[in-house]
Amino acid sequence: MISLTLEGKITIVTGGSRGIGKSIALKLAQAGSTVAIFDILEKEGKDTADQIVSSGGKADFYRVDVTSEEDVKNAVGGILKNYGKIDFLVNNAGITSRYFFTEIPVQIWKKTIDVNLTGAFLCCKAVVPSMIKQKEGRIVIISSGSAITGSGGGAHYASSKGGVNSLVRALARELAPYNILVNGVAPRNIEAETLENVYSKEQIKALCEKIPLKRLGTPEEVANIALFLCSSLSTYITGQIILADGGRTFGSV
Ligand SMILES: NC(=O)c1ccc[n+]([C@@H]2O[C@H](COP(=O)([O-])OP(=O)(O)OC[C@H]3O[C@@H](n4cnc5c(N)ncnc54)[C@H](O)[C@@H]3O)[C@@H](O)[C@H]2O)c1
Repeated sequence: MISLTLEGKITIVTGGSRGIGKSIALKLAQAGSTVAIFDILEKEGKDTADQIVSSGGKADFYRVDVTSEEDVKNAVGGILKNYGKIDFLVNNAGITSRYFFTEIPVQIWKKTIDVNLTGAFLCCKAVVPSMIKQKEGRIVIISSGSAITGSGGGAHYASSKGGVNSLVRALARELAPYNILVNGVAPRNIEAETLENVYSKEQIKALCEKIPLKRLGTPEEVANIALFLCSSLSTYITGQIILADGGRTFGSV
């Protein structure tokens, strides 16, 4: 029998209050892991943790801004104090917006790099020492297909996710001796608020025409990959960025 159980494991999911991160938190909790949700959205984050607990899982919400080293360190310290270890870190928190290149305000450029790239860096930096000690760990970072293709209206976003891909590869190489596996998941066109805030209904319809599978993906389809990357089925995979894009990136080449 094939088992994807994460019973007894401790996972951090950043940006787990809603969207893709929420699906990842629910999925990993369903597989048996205790989940710590790091997010700035308190109400949604507590609701997600409550949803997990009321369906028999284990979860806590931590109000953490991933761009604050202090927030991240305090929350990671609290988890290590309570549970003694962290098995999985899923860096999912991210922001996006669309601007033609010459219109990108420098504050938006800096904020996007700060949340999407520096946030992942700070969380990895806080968690890795404990993973090195236990000689085991998995890190998943949510990237984006736009890191590969550019995103037509978001050089700041594509650049932040290009940095994420490099962070995945650099960490995978440096942390392999400690049996810490680091991979990325690059979604594209997933039904979530970030997509709905950026595109109109008509644009989403036109977008689906460009996708070989002719539909948007779901947050759960991304969560399934995170589960695989935290499970015992992926012990020989590190430094990879798995595209979850309905074939769009491949289809447009
Ligand atoms: N939806 C898509 O099609 C798509 C495509 C490619 C990549 N992604 C990536 O997937 C991830 C999740 O996206 P989503 O579509 O679910 O977006 P979302 O906006 O629904 O969720 C993002 C979450 O991150 C949290 N967050 C933002 N800034 C934060 C901060 N400073 N500290 C802590 N938490 C913070 C938000 O509060 C929110 O809960 C992001 O990294 C995004 O770039 C999404």
